[in-house]
Amino acid sequence: MHKIDSIEKDVVIVGAEKFVTLFNEETIQRRVKEMAAQISEDYKGKTPVFIGVLNGAFIFLSDLIKEVKSDCEIDFFKLSSYGDEKISSGNVKLLKELNCDVSGRDIIIVEDIVDSGLSIKFIEELFSRHTPASMKVCALLVKPNSLKYEVKIDYIGFNIPSKFVIGYGLDYAQKFRNLKNIYVLSE
Ligand code: IMP
Ligand code: MG
Repeated sequence: MHKIDSIEKDVVIVGAEKFVTLFNEETIQRRVKEMAAQISEDYKGKTPVFIGVLNGAFIFLSDLIKEVKSDCEIDFFKLSSYGDEKISSGNVKLLKELNCDVSGRDIIIVEDIVDSGLSIKFIEELFSRHTPASMKVCALLVKPNSLKYEVKIDYIGFNIPSKFVIGYGLDYAQKFRNLKNIYVLSE
């Protein structure tokens, strides 16, 4: 079982693994506000639909839309996860479809993190069949050195090294999403 054995301000210990702070709460919140300001500017006079990819993106999406100045709507979409491992299975499965009709809408897909790009590629292909007016991708984190698929990410919070991260919505075997900082596995 993955259990927090100790948590201090900047370090989380999980069994034999140690995670250290990569971005603290203030840094994350500052960047999220900047991203929201850019999106508000780009979507002036429009009503975009933010589509959060569950489960990871729910905290980021929530903080982001609170800072968006235009009218907006939200929906969620769920893909299969990593399982309990730190490495992607390479398979993507649809677990929850959208409730709204995205045809003719300006949609912004919101992801916590883009690793290989497989999830984003899968989602983009799926959504483009529903003929949205426009489609952009917004990811809090991107691991540029892990990208294996050609994907365009329009709004990027932070580019990070190809290391496993947790917190602020990001999980390790479904846990640690509730942490306010983003922590990286230290080797
Ligand atoms: P991709 O399909 O390889 O781009 O992986 C994207 C998904 O994998 C994200 O939506 C996350 O749910 C998960 N993921 C990728 N890297 C990490 C990580 O470092 N920590 C936690 N989840 C991750
Ligand atoms: Mg995810």
